[in-house]
Amino acid sequence: PGWVLALRNGLSKLGPPGEFLEGLLSRWATGGGETRRLEIPQVKQSINAITSQSFFIPLYHLFLTYGGIYRLTFGPKSFLIVSDPQIAKHILKDNAKAYSKGILAEILEFVMGTGLIPADGEIWRVRRRAIVPALHQKYVVAMIKLFGEASYKLCKKLDVAASDGEDVEMESLFSRLTLDVIGKAIFNYEFDSLTHDNGIVEAVYIVLREAEMRSTAPIPTWEIPIWKDISPRQKKVSQALKLINSTLDDLIAICKKMVEQEELQFHEEYMNEQDPSILHFLLASGDDVSSKQLRDDLMTLLIAGHETSAAVLTWTFYLLSKSPEVVAKLQDEADSVLGDRFPTNEDLKKLKYTTRVINESLRLYPQPPVLIRRSLEDDMLGEYPIKRGEDIFISVWNLHRSPKHWVDAEKFNPERWLLDGPNPNESNQNFSYLPFGGGPRKCVGDMFATFETVVATAMLVRRFDFQIAPGAPPVAMTTGATIHTTEGLQMTVTRRTIPPIIPNLETKELTFDACRSSSITR
Ligand code: HEM
Repeated sequence: PGWVLALRNGLSKLGPPGEFLEGLLSRWATGGGETRRLEIPQVKQSINAITSQSFFIPLYHLFLTYGGIYRLTFGPKSFLIVSDPQIAKHILKDNAKAYSKGILAEILEFVMGTGLIPADGEIWRVRRRAIVPALHQKYVVAMIKLFGEASYKLCKKLDVAASDGEDVEMESLFSRLTLDVIGKAIFNYEFDSLTHDNGIVEAVYIVLREAEMRSTAPIPTWEIPIWKDISPRQKKVSQALKLINSTLDDLIAICKKMVEQEELQFHEEYMNEQDPSILHFLLASGDDVSSKQLRDDLMTLLIAGHETSAAVLTWTFYLLSKSPEVVAKLQDEADSVLGDRFPTNEDLKKLKYTTRVINESLRLYPQPPVLIRRSLEDDMLGEYPIKRGEDIFISVWNLHRSPKHWVDAEKFNPERWLLDGPNPNESNQNFSYLPFGGGPRKCVGDMFATFETVVATAMLVRRFDFQIAPGAPPVAMTTGATIHTTEGLQMTVTRRTIPPIIPNLETKELTFDACRSSSITR
């Protein structure tokens, strides 16, 4: 109350010791005896104010006014919005056992079942223990070749567009690139979506769009029993899911046969050279799991590893289109480290600036921009008590753009990360930066995704210059599970004038003759 404040000011001028004064006044402030229970700042909003634009933007403005934790209420619903690094750390890491995936699990159940992302409790623990070892170092290193091959296919496609003088929509091309990569990496399936469309590619997109629609829709119409059967959209979703599930069942059956015929000696870094996929690892490990659970896991990995990486590449190329000085440095690095070779593990260690560009792109455009949790018990968030059953959004967007933690927070500045410093992550940035989450639910594909996006970026900028296409609509954001553009990323692609590479006869790596022969203009 006001009188307590006035008394505090008055007494402090008279000089009683500070701690004594605080103790005395806090008892008065709470009417004596009881402990003071602080109220989380509360904001009432109409749902339209939140859903009419990318919802994390109004959450950012409210953060600047109300601080690192506030309660957002619309109608009977309320969410806690967390933008404070220490509270985020408490929820994700220090007291992670007291939080579940909440709404996220409910929304994603139709596609991921009890896969790793939505699962909680014992199922999550068992599946995490089975899946993490599959993404071992040797596997990720083997994937570098795959990243190079898939990026090369994209180079060839862009080469044609450059010759024809046709603009390209890069967001959908990145989505195809990462779909091709993840299909091969997870279950040894050739989507080949960069080269042609087919039913299964379309089915994956139908399911993805549905998951995104469900995560942003204000009313869950899909839960209404009759609606499910009559809505043409829902029928399409069911058919798509059926097709994907039966394809996955076939792949599981094929892989099982392969494993049975193999002279198997399973060990820690086990990998089948012909089929290094995660599915092969899981079956070879003798993982005792139902086919339904295995399918849920594969589907989860497919979705988790596909759109996120595609979104990172999209926003990286958008940021680069506005930063020619960064592009020049990237190109210098790609020229000197890679030349025209497919990247190797050793090259990746040297592509330091490219890695910093991806780190910085992930800061400005975190995928997903918010992490969702629900409290399973009463807890304290900072100085505030909260009850069991609270729905919580940790805004990674706010953490990554907080003026408190970043100099020129809005500026794309890869130089903010020292080239020879440690790779930035949630631990060394004390939860001000958490592109892959943190704690026990941290992304299992962080190294995979970093290598994948670094390889694609280096190979593309090595060969082409990218500009926003003249007359293209402004690049604006919209949210699903990741941040999309509203109308695509239309770009004009031109071949670079690349300094001639002196061929190194020692090297046994593949070269890019097909692309290069037409791309050298001097
Ligand atoms: C979880 C980001 C790529 C598999 C997460 C989380 C984040 C994230 C922030 C934590 C979610 C939470 O705490 O609620 C990203 C980004 C990627 C990427 C930005 C690309 C740049 C991948 C890839 C894979 C993958 C390539 C698989 C190969 C997973 C899985 C989880 C997860 C399975 C759930 C882990 C668990 O709950 O135990 N990812 N991810 N991610 N990610 Fe990724």
